[in-house]
Amino acid sequence: MHAVGIVAAAGSGLRLGADRPKALVPLGGRALVCWAVDALRAGGVSDVVVAVPAEEHAAFAAVLPPDVRLVAGGETRTASVRAALEALSDPAHPTPEVVLVHDAARPLTPPDVVARVLAALDGGARAVVPVLPVIDTTVVVDDIGVITDAVPREPLRRVQTPQGFDRAMLVASYAAIDLVADAAPFTDDAAVVRAAGIPVMTVEGDERAAKITVAHDLAVAELQVRT
Ligand code: CTP
Ligand code: MG
Repeated sequence: MHAVGIVAAAGSGLRLGADRPKALVPLGGRALVCWAVDALRAGGVSDVVVAVPAEEHAAFAAVLPPDVRLVAGGETRTASVRAALEALSDPAHPTPEVVLVHDAARPLTPPDVVARVLAALDGGARAVVPVLPVIDTTVVVDDIGVITDAVPREPLRRVQTPQGFDRAMLVASYAAIDLVADAAPFTDDAAVVRAAGIPVMTVEGDERAAKITVAHDLAVAELQVRT
């Protein structure tokens, strides 16, 4: 089963508020995007395409290994992943059967998570995402902040990446959404696939695959790489 990894790295990182695009922010002295590529490779996905901000191509090429393909990302994560998927149809490269889509913002994803996603695809799943249980009590509030309801926690899961898909199915699912009109609701690829009616399997995620969104998350990741 030939797998290709897509790393979504074309965001700006507004909530982190660094002096450069989030994927280029150093963690233990190396850019987040380098950790994310390594995470896929350590888990068994060696062929990797990275979606980068168009104007930052040179900066990404300078830090990534030379055998990683770079493509210009888009305005939204959805547009960036779509651009990377289009690059997979390049006749210069073998077309993979399966694709793992990963966030550059999840640099410390353990190889076991990647391996679990691959194993589920190998077992016949067409779409698979790593998940973790919700541990906090979860409530609904009204517009002045008063709790109106408590959400039963047992069936809830937090969704991580990498998310694995049958490539042809993922391409068809992306083709079925109208990028401009529908971009907002799709915060991950599983949502795109579900919109096309495809069932999405889950495997166990890992707290170490946490997403770096705000400065505190980066501080936690720095502690992880030092221990
Ligand atoms: N991403 C992307 N293209 C975009 C927006 C986001 O490839 N146009 C990627 C980011 O680089 C990141 C992942 O999608 O690896 C998850 O997005 P998020 O954590 O929201 O990153 P940013 O959009 O960069 O951060 P922010 O929303 O705080 O600006
Ligand atoms: Mg974002």
